[in-house]
Amino acid sequence: MRMYDLIYRKKLGGALSPEEIAFWVKGAADGTVPDEQSAALLMAICWRGMSTEETLALTLAMRDSGKRLDLSSVPGLKVDKHSTGGVGDKTTLILGPIVAACGVPCPMFSGRGLGHTGGTVDKFAAIPGLKVELSEAEFLRSLAETRFANSAQTADIAPADKKLYALRDITATVESIPLITASIMSKKLAGGADALVLDVKCGPTAFMKTLDDATTLAQSMVDVGTAHGMQIRALITRMDAPLGWAIGNALEVMESVEILRGEHGDSELAQMSFRLAAEMLIMGGAANTLPEALAKVQAVLQDGSALATLRRFVALNGGDAEALDDFSRLPQPGQVVEVRAAQDGYIAAIDGRALGILAMDLGAGRRDRDDVLDLGVGIQVQARLGQKVAQGEVLFRVFAKGQQQVTPDLYLAALDWSTTKPVATPWLLGTIGC
Ligand code: URA
Repeated sequence: MRMYDLIYRKKLGGALSPEEIAFWVKGAADGTVPDEQSAALLMAICWRGMSTEETLALTLAMRDSGKRLDLSSVPGLKVDKHSTGGVGDKTTLILGPIVAACGVPCPMFSGRGLGHTGGTVDKFAAIPGLKVELSEAEFLRSLAETRFANSAQTADIAPADKKLYALRDITATVESIPLITASIMSKKLAGGADALVLDVKCGPTAFMKTLDDATTLAQSMVDVGTAHGMQIRALITRMDAPLGWAIGNALEVMESVEILRGEHGDSELAQMSFRLAAEMLIMGGAANTLPEALAKVQAVLQDGSALATLRRFVALNGGDAEALDDFSRLPQPGQVVEVRAAQDGYIAAIDGRALGILAMDLGAGRRDRDDVLDLGVGIQVQARLGQKVAQGEVLFRVFAKGQQQVTPDLYLAALDWSTTKPVATPWLLGTIGC
């Protein structure tokens, strides 16, 4: 088999066989296929696409490039969640403890942030002492004892994805539906959960900008999961404004804890987290209908058991659980700068991408993979879509390092204004398999 032939055929729009795909993936991972040839094939796939059969074969080859976790020692159906990523998305910190408190084991592997979107691992790292890279034994112990486990992806899960993703990142080949499907689903299948709820983001700040593309990606992942015996459902959710009031790691922990305490229950972030948790409960067999599942979510918020689960998870994995009740124990900023409205009007749009980049520049995110984060910095977004604002009102609180220059105009430029009240758009744009 020659890589040249595979690249040439895909360039012309032909199909690759499962054996050819396995040959490429194995060679990319072990170095026998040169990066130039992998990059050329990735670009050809971006342009020409892949059939469902090819996407399935690519997912399997990537899954089998590494280890598969065996979670069978923990009783019950294990249910995971994956979000395709957005600014201020901290749903894992909220729904993981909720689902676990309702009796459904929730094993999750998360990523570190890069660019304008944050990573769940970095948010958990803001809890002092919490170990965010768990060994397999620690992951299983956490799942058995608290029904919740979250860890950075280990190097031995789908290593071919790590290699290919790094190449995609530098060759402008990330945004391809079959490549995204295989990348996400290979890791999810290797992670060992029985069921998966997907949150596919759609909008100017997300990978998928249009509802058509988001629906195609969601359907592609649902097809692959189903073909491999996984229960799988997808929500398609709007991603334009930041999700919730917090962008930045310690701030996002605070907002998550506030929701687990029962605050901000009407917010889009809370509603989205509760719905995703409810879908997970149905898949895990803890509820039969959506109303029943949502009632269970409310019950564990009200009796405090969801927050207690997060405290137990943090304490078990070396973290300071008291920081969840006393936020002064979390990383702090050097200064807080208020940004006030320069005009009256309604907030018509909030550019999540622009705010994500500003938060990254403050030190809350990585421009380059090796950047070291400041876990205490970030942005408190006071402005709400559709809100009527008077000149002088605080729209943002910028949590910055001590000596950092904060330019209010850069924050104000993330807002669009209207003289009339804008029509609210729903956060839930569609469901697949629900
Ligand atoms: N997240 C992943 O893990 N892989 C992709 O390809 C895109 C988002």
